[in-house]
Amino acid sequence: MESSDSFELSTGAKIPSIGLGTWKAPPGLVGNAIVAAVKAGYRHIDCARVYENEKEVGDALKQLFSDGVVKRRDLFITSKLWCSDHAPKDVSKALSRTLEHLQLDYIDLYLIHWPIRTKPGSRGFEEEVILPPTIAETWNAMEGLYASGQARAIGVSNFSTKKLQDLLVHAKVPPAVNQVECHPVWQQPALHNFCQSTGIHLSAYSPLGSPGSWIKGEVLKEPVLIEIAKKLNRTAAQVALRWGIQSGHSVLPKSTSETRIKENIDLFSWCIPPDLFSKFSEITQARLLRGDFAIHESGPYKSLEELWDGEI
Ligand code: A2P
Repeated sequence: MESSDSFELSTGAKIPSIGLGTWKAPPGLVGNAIVAAVKAGYRHIDCARVYENEKEVGDALKQLFSDGVVKRRDLFITSKLWCSDHAPKDVSKALSRTLEHLQLDYIDLYLIHWPIRTKPGSRGFEEEVILPPTIAETWNAMEGLYASGQARAIGVSNFSTKKLQDLLVHAKVPPAVNQVECHPVWQQPALHNFCQSTGIHLSAYSPLGSPGSWIKGEVLKEPVLIEIAKKLNRTAAQVALRWGIQSGHSVLPKSTSETRIKENIDLFSWCIPPDLFSKFSEITQARLLRGDFAIHESGPYKSLEELWDGEI
């Protein structure tokens, strides 16, 4: 069982095992959350252009650097290429804009956000804006960012085992990370095993099941989790996160509350013992973030089966 505060990527770099998620962290709150998180010991921040808050993240980072709280080299910053920027000529421009917003000159990890391509300039996933994927070409442009040093590692997000296999066939630089939904209610053992066997690190988004959002499902109310939390005198959130880290995943809980930010990193002075860890296999599994928005009768993905290649 792993319990480290970081994992090694195929590039040789270390990815901290806990990072602050910024999806749904609104401008006005996200900056304070970044400052609170770094002061609480977080060294990994998970961003994306589509979250529309990278400018405020950048301002907070600048403040932390100028106040001497932390140095750039001690942080691990991830961002993601949005679906409307998959055209190879747009990939480098997209990263440049993200770097400008974050006020950084390199990113530690840049991910293809979804295996879905949409028309340049579009934001949503209406039928008329979804185009056939060009993952091989997009990946080739990502490899260019890696070669230039602007992205110190490159990877993907929301990729099934099959899509990773397809990518590995023609990738010159293999993806270092696949960032996917992963928590006790969607453990993804087959994907986990594939990633482990191919040296791809699995990073877990929505590791708490995004309570309070439009995503259906109540991970933190799962009885097995609550029972284990009671036995360990920990919160259900801490047990869900600790399960992720002990499974070998980095976990990216989002919070804008200083109390919960601190609660979520208090994971390293205790562990889930094997007899309780094995109980996670009793939890009924369900993908919560299914990607229904990308499914259209005449589009490249006509069903959830096709989007996830059966992993649904
Ligand atoms: P808040 O930002 O008010 O703390 P996920 O990371 O799975 O997407 O979950 C994020 C959601 O979980 C947010 O709504 C966040 O709310 C909430 N959250 C974060 N940490 C905890 C915690 N320790 N206990 C309960 N809810 C939490």
